[in-house]
Amino acid sequence: MLYTLLRPLLFKLDPESAHRITFSAIEQARKLGLLKSTAIVCQPRNVMGLDFPNPVGLAAGLDKNGEYLDALAALGFGFLEIGTVTPRPQPGNPAPRIFRVPEANAVINRLGFNNHGVDRLIENIKRSDYQGILGINIGKNFDTPLEQAVDDYRIGLQKVYRYASYVTVNISSPNTQNLRQLQAADALDHLLSKLKSEQIKLAQIHGKYVPMVVKIAPDLEAAQIESIAALLMKHQIDGVIATNTTISRTGIEHLPVAQESGGLSGAPLTQRATAVIHQLHCFLQSAIPIIGVGGIMSADAAQDKLKAGASLIQLYTGLIYHGPDLVKEIAQSVCADKAKQSDSLA
Ligand SMILES: Cc1cc2nc3c(=O)[nH]c(=O)nc-3n(C[C@H](O)[C@H](O)[C@H](O)COP(=O)(O)O)c2cc1C
Repeated sequence: MLYTLLRPLLFKLDPESAHRITFSAIEQARKLGLLKSTAIVCQPRNVMGLDFPNPVGLAAGLDKNGEYLDALAALGFGFLEIGTVTPRPQPGNPAPRIFRVPEANAVINRLGFNNHGVDRLIENIKRSDYQGILGINIGKNFDTPLEQAVDDYRIGLQKVYRYASYVTVNISSPNTQNLRQLQAADALDHLLSKLKSEQIKLAQIHGKYVPMVVKIAPDLEAAQIESIAALLMKHQIDGVIATNTTISRTGIEHLPVAQESGGLSGAPLTQRATAVIHQLHCFLQSAIPIIGVGGIMSADAAQDKLKAGASLIQLYTGLIYHGPDLVKEIAQSVCADKAKQSDSLA
């Protein structure tokens, strides 16, 4: 309700300033005791050996440095994913680099993994009071050659392992040159084999097993999705996030902003992301859990992702257009749906 009133004002600001102001305000409200940092408990579920209080998570990219964990916890999410973080700090692409597309409830971004580096992210986690499920999304620096990408992911995995509930290997951002080539069969086979060995080594060192998931793009053919699914099973990867932003402009091709390069998210991505989840689910046959993301702008869209085979879901652009109430709305709808199913079975 409050967000509906504030949105026109926020949309007058450039997206990065609106983002900073919103999360600083939520953090202030929390510090004043106006918000409690508790997850909504609704249809709790165990996925990848982790207990999620509800299936609605925050997608990567909104809190790249783990600066707003306590504020985000107050929004009721069942889990938070922070990052993408790279081994070394990097500024990302020059601004402007985020474009709202209000006519289509969408966003185009070409941020390019702007972040303060993995060491700073860890400092921020240590400072926060957040006790819930924390995904940490890792990537490679823009100037690390693709052939050495595995070293960056290995550094990321080693450094965040202790602090993460799960680690996401992001190989699907369209804004780091050639990154998505890591989804090709040979490159992925090599990357996953190295990272799996590292994960096993780290599990022994730390005495705890931290699940590792891979985040994929929506711009893949069915055969590529099948080959990725086979490699995820071969290397016993713990989960898959589908999907990242799309390079397609379908649905907004008539708008001038469609010319901007970068990844498109929000409503134009909804159906494509759901189709990828459905295909993955057919190939994986529930062997590996799917986290569904892409254009979840309503409770119905969230239900569609779960019906297509996702065990958990994540939001980003929906929050920009509908505000934090969307988290509660979706969690409640998932609960209500469960109650309806139980009634019909009784
Ligand atoms: C501004 C912006 C920045 C993003 N940054 C990242 C990122 O750093 N790492 C990542 O894996 N995904 C990133 N994403 C992708 C989202 O996590 C999500 O996969 C995608 O936006 C689709 O979901 P949505 O339609 O709910 O936004 C970003 C998305 C947006 C809009």
